[in-house]
Amino acid sequence: MTIINKIIDGKIYAEKLLKEISPLSKEFLKNFNREPSLTVIQVGDNPASKIYVKNKILTAKKNGIKSKEILLASDVSEDELIQHISILNKDENVDGILVQLPLPKHISEKKIINIIDPSKDVDGFHPTNFGNLFMGDSKFIPCTPLGCLYMLKHEIKDIKGKNAVIVGRSNIVGKPMASLLLSSDCSVTITHSRTKNIQEHTRKADILIVAVGIPEMIDEKFIKPGAIVIDIGINRLETKTTDNASNKKVIVGDVKFEKVLKVAKKITPVPGGVGPMTIACLMHNTVKAAYINKKNDFINVLEGILWWTG
Ligand code: GUN
Repeated sequence: MTIINKIIDGKIYAEKLLKEISPLSKEFLKNFNREPSLTVIQVGDNPASKIYVKNKILTAKKNGIKSKEILLASDVSEDELIQHISILNKDENVDGILVQLPLPKHISEKKIINIIDPSKDVDGFHPTNFGNLFMGDSKFIPCTPLGCLYMLKHEIKDIKGKNAVIVGRSNIVGKPMASLLLSSDCSVTITHSRTKNIQEHTRKADILIVAVGIPEMIDEKFIKPGAIVIDIGINRLETKTTDNASNKKVIVGDVKFEKVLKVAKKITPVPGGVGPMTIACLMHNTVKAAYINKKNDFINVLEGILWWTG
C-alpha cells in the first residue's frame, strides 16, 4: 500500500458530508423563509479558539447557514454570559448555540453548558443530550467523535466486534467516542493518564483513537500492526528554524505520524484529519437543530444521512 493510500483525508470526508448537508439548508430556506442559524460565543482571545471559531463561521456561510459570532471580553462575568445565552435560548430564529471552550477560569463550564437549551445544543454537551447518547438515542452527538465515527464507518467494512481503544477520557471526545463505538458493536477500552502500561492496551487495538493533548505521545511501539489510527490532538509547537534566526510554529497531533504510518493500516494526519470533520458535523447538527425547532418531518431525511442510527 502506498503512503497516500494509508492516509485518511478528513478534508475529502468533510466535503462529502457538507455536499449532503448543504441542499438541506437550501430546502430549509425555501420552506421557512430563513436560513438555519448558528450563534457562536467566544470569550477572550485564545488564539486556537479564534481560528476554530473563524472556520466554523466561514463554513456555515459557505453552506447556507446564517452564522453569528458574539465575542466577549475575557473578564466578562458569568452572569453576563448566562444572559447572552438566555436571550439566544428564547430567540426562535436561533437554531444552534455553541460556546467555544475552554472558558476563562472564573466561569464554570458546567454551569454554562447546563444553561443552553438542549434543543439548540449543537455541541451535544448538555447532560440531556449526553445522557441520551449513552442510552443510544441522542439528538445531538458531540461533533469530534461524530466526525471520527463517520470516517471509521467509511474506512472499515464491518466495524462490529473490533477492538477499539481510546486514549483520553474527556467529556468532549473520549467518553462520547466510547459510547458511539459501543453502539457500533465494538469492544471498547478507555485508557487515560492513570492507566498502568497504556501500551499493553493500545497494542490490542484494531481501532486506536488518541485524544490526550500530549504532542506525539503515541509512537510505533503503541500500535498493533494493521490498526486504524485516529489522531484527535492538535498541538501548536514552536521550533527554531535551522539557522536559529526565528521561531517556526508547527502543528502536530498526539501521534508520531511518520513512525506510526509505517505500522498502521490507516491514519489521520494533523492537520487535515479530524479537524475538518468536526466542523462538518457541526453544520450537520445545526441543520438538524433547525428542522427539530420547526418540528419538521424532514428530520428523517437528515437522520438518514448519518447512518449509525440505523
Ligand atoms: N473546544 C475544542 N473543541 C470544542 C468543541 O467541539 N466545541 C466547543 N464548544 N469548544 C471546543
